[in-house]
This record gives sequence, C-alpha cells and structure tokens, in this order.
Amino acid sequence: MVIIEARELTKIYGSGDTAITALDHVSLKVNEGEFVAVMGSSGCGKSTLLNLLGGLDKATDGQTLVESQPLDQLTDDALSKLRRQKIGFVFQFYNLIPVLTVVENAALPVTLDGMPEAAAHEKTRHWIDKVGLIERAASHPNQLSGGQQQRVAIARALVAEPKLILADEPTGNLDSHSADEIAGLLRIVANEWGRAVIMVTHDAHIASYANRLIFLKDGAILFDHKRPENTLNGADWVLEMVRGYI
Ligand SMILES: Nc1ncnc2c1ncn2[C@@H]1O[C@H](COP(=O)(O)OP(=O)(O)OP(=O)(O)O)[C@@H](O)[C@H]1O
Ligand SMILES: [Mg+2]
Repeated sequence: MVIIEARELTKIYGSGDTAITALDHVSLKVNEGEFVAVMGSSGCGKSTLLNLLGGLDKATDGQTLVESQPLDQLTDDALSKLRRQKIGFVFQFYNLIPVLTVVENAALPVTLDGMPEAAAHEKTRHWIDKVGLIERAASHPNQLSGGQQQRVAIARALVAEPKLILADEPTGNLDSHSADEIAGLLRIVANEWGRAVIMVTHDAHIASYANRLIFLKDGAILFDHKRPENTLNGADWVLEMVRGYI
C-alpha cells in the first residue's frame, strides 16, 4: 500500500534574481514496510523534500499525498492534526524537552491530542520497551547518551502509531557505533513493524541499512533504485550506486 506520494513537487525560495529552486519536479511513492535512504550533497534539497513530504512547509508547485490525502487541501489545523496522527518525525538533535522524563517526552504526540495521561503513559511504555529503553523510562534526557536520546525520539515518533516516519540525518550527531544501532532500529521500524521510513543521510554506510536509495542532485532525483533482494552486502551496493557522485 502506498503511504506517501509526491507529485512533481517544486519548491522555490525567494523570487526574481535571488530565487533558488530547492526542489525541481520531484515525484515518488513509498509503500508500507519500505526503508528509503535519501542522499545527495549539501544543499541539494534533501531537507526541503522531507519538509514538504511531512507538511512542515508548503510547495511552490506540485502535491504531497499522505495515505491518499492531498495535504494542500487541508486547513492549517487539519494539517497539524494529520502530522501528529499520521507522521512521526525524527531529527538530528532529538528535540527532547529537558524537564520531562523519557516517558513524558515520548508521550507528547498522544497527550497533546487529548489522550488521558494514564492511557498515554501505558501506550508510551510499550514503545519505550520496543526501542530497548524501559529501564530508563523515568530518566531525564540529560542522563542519557545521544543514541539513547535518539531512541526516545523514535519512540515518540511511533507512539501515535503513524504509518510514516520521516528522519532527517537521525545519525548525524552520533558516534559510529550508536549510528549503526539507530540505523538498525529504523530498519526494524520499516521491515518488521511495517512503517514506511524515509531517512536522509550523508553516510553511505548508514544508507546501506535501507532497501531503496534515492539520490538528489540540484533539487531533482538523479536515481531512485531498490536494492536487489540478493545483495549480500548493502554497503557495497550503496557505494557502487553513489560512486562518482559523492
Ligand atoms: N528557508 C530558506 N530560504 C532560502 N533558501 C533556502 C531555505 N531553506 C533552504 N534553502 C536553500 O535551498 C537549497 C536546498 O536546501 P536543503 O536544506 O533542502 O538542502 P540539504 O540537501 O538538506 O542540505 P544539507 O545536506 O546541508 O542539510 C539550498 O540551496 C538552500 O540554501
Ligand atoms: Mg538538510
């Protein structure tokens, strides 16, 4: 089932002589259970694409459809609600609230939507357990490693049970061991828990955890390839694909 579709998405910042075309007629479809890595050099439009897919910014032209719902037909309130319920976001710097515990942080998408605290915390503890942090449920973010904080952010992204997870450089602030763990967890989120996961990364090794690689250049898709089923070494496959581009 198609979870998200982009139709000819174009984003132009500014106007006249100083206009920058950050995204240039980008189209894609992502199914449930797919883990997509988005690569490309700095400034090629990766974050712009993710922001348009997640309804965090508006396209100059073209459309995003989340579970067949075109985002441009929604009011601001309806769009905020759709984002909370249908999309989980993961960012490079975790964006956890220091004064809240692990459970309170991860519960925010459902408590903000009005779920009573007891039910919200029970549901959240389920996801905190799934990401391997249940014994830290009462800790505060500053008591956790970067990799653990990113696990909390992933639990927060999953707590409302969205079918789509968007992650912009989720391993960008982590040491290589923690980065591997987070990429491995996102692979489980897609392949075992059936979410569509779209992850931006600069790192070919981290991209090798994905089943599909989209490479952007100057705001356009240079290639969009599924990893062949019989590829033994994903890292070799990604390196082969991106050779000459990075
Ligand atoms: N708010 C903005 N106003 C003007 N230009 C912008 C804005 N946001 C991004 N751009 C420009 O759009 C282009 C794409 O930016 P974007 O942030 O999507 O790139 P990126 O691929 O995510 O880069 P990086 O790898 O450095 O994160 C760049 O030329 C950038 O300077
Ligand atoms: Mg970026």
